[in-house]
Amino acid sequence: MATTFAWGNTEASGPLRRLPIELAPPGPDEVLLEVLYCGLCHSDLLHIDEVRPSDAPPAVAGHEVIGRVVEVGDGVDSALIGSVRGLGFVAGTCRHCRYCLSGRQTLCDNLEMTVVGRPGGFASHVKAHQDWVIPIPKALDPASAGPLFCAGITVFEPLFSAGISPTASVAVIGVGGLGHLAVQLARAWGCEVTGITTNAAKSDEIRGLGAHHVVLLPELAQQAGSYDLILNTSDHALDWDAVVGALAPQGCLHQLGLCPSPIPLKVLPFVKGNLSFRSSLTSTPAATSLFLEFCARHEIEALVEVLPMAEINTAIDRLRHGDVRYRFVLQGPA
Ligand SMILES: NC(=O)c1ccc[n+]([C@@H]2O[C@H](COP(=O)([O-])OP(=O)(O)OC[C@H]3O[C@@H](n4cnc5c(N)ncnc54)[C@H](OP(=O)(O)O)[C@@H]3O)[C@@H](O)[C@H]2O)c1
Ligand SMILES: [Zn+2]
Ligand SMILES: [Zn+2]
Repeated sequence: MATTFAWGNTEASGPLRRLPIELAPPGPDEVLLEVLYCGLCHSDLLHIDEVRPSDAPPAVAGHEVIGRVVEVGDGVDSALIGSVRGLGFVAGTCRHCRYCLSGRQTLCDNLEMTVVGRPGGFASHVKAHQDWVIPIPKALDPASAGPLFCAGITVFEPLFSAGISPTASVAVIGVGGLGHLAVQLARAWGCEVTGITTNAAKSDEIRGLGAHHVVLLPELAQQAGSYDLILNTSDHALDWDAVVGALAPQGCLHQLGLCPSPIPLKVLPFVKGNLSFRSSLTSTPAATSLFLEFCARHEIEALVEVLPMAEINTAIDRLRHGDVRYRFVLQGPA
């Protein structure tokens, strides 16, 4: 057991405090990362607000980690020590179930999440299985690469897995942490891109990210039949008739925001338009690797505000108020 430090909370909603944490040495197939940077995702707020009984207290969020490998467990090549790698929402899978064996690891029954039942990346150190600590292309700046490991790969997956055509018209609802990367990605993918926002003041920036068009969310009803794919990164209850109505025939609504209320969708427009509704959780290590190369090739990067880890409570408070363009990254040491 080594004593490390983490920013955690024992009561729902925080505040986070710097606490000593006992961390067992990396087990077979695991590595220990010294955290250099960790992005703050909106999903971290859910983790902080809802301390689960399974979380050995304190709860420690953080799943957009850039870290240096400082120790490895049995079965891991010691040459990894010293390398800088990225870690996202998944820290390990069983490697032998039918989903793992067929390259669909995020469906594994024994998915280990970086922050659930274990301390995550807002810490001096974090552990993960070697498959899920991914090398970072040299062209990417480690200070802004963390958000690629959750926000980025989450919005890459719907384009990549569905084989979205470059002739497609793609709309992104919510241009925040996920959305600002989605706009850049869809543009580099070759698509016609529309950013759909609640904040008119962001319009020029959204065009600067690569959007051909910007639409204010209340005006979505005027875009009937327009989009082959809508990536919804908002977790708010929306005018769902307007959202579905904005899909072109055979279009897909891909829901990424963790909307807490049920989504009431009328069946008839889906039947008549041969529409679909999909969702997904992050992506596989192989897709993550390809995604990072894609980002390096197209100079896609997260726009970040870097704060020292000690200012994590300020970052959380500002994220809750939507006061970030477009992602906070907390810099170690914790
Ligand atoms: N599926 C997954 O694997 C996965 C992974 C990561 C995160 N998530 C979830 O994805 C969601 C977005 O995460 P994030 O980190 O991108 O959050 P974020 O940075 O806070 O961005 C969310 C965006 O939602 C929009 N928004 C704010 N208020 C709104 C309202 N009243 N109505 C409609 N839209 C509104 C805003 O964009 P505008 O200012 O442009 O309107 C905001 O920037 C969260 O629910 C998070 O938990 C899911
Ligand atoms: Zn996340
Ligand atoms: Zn498995």
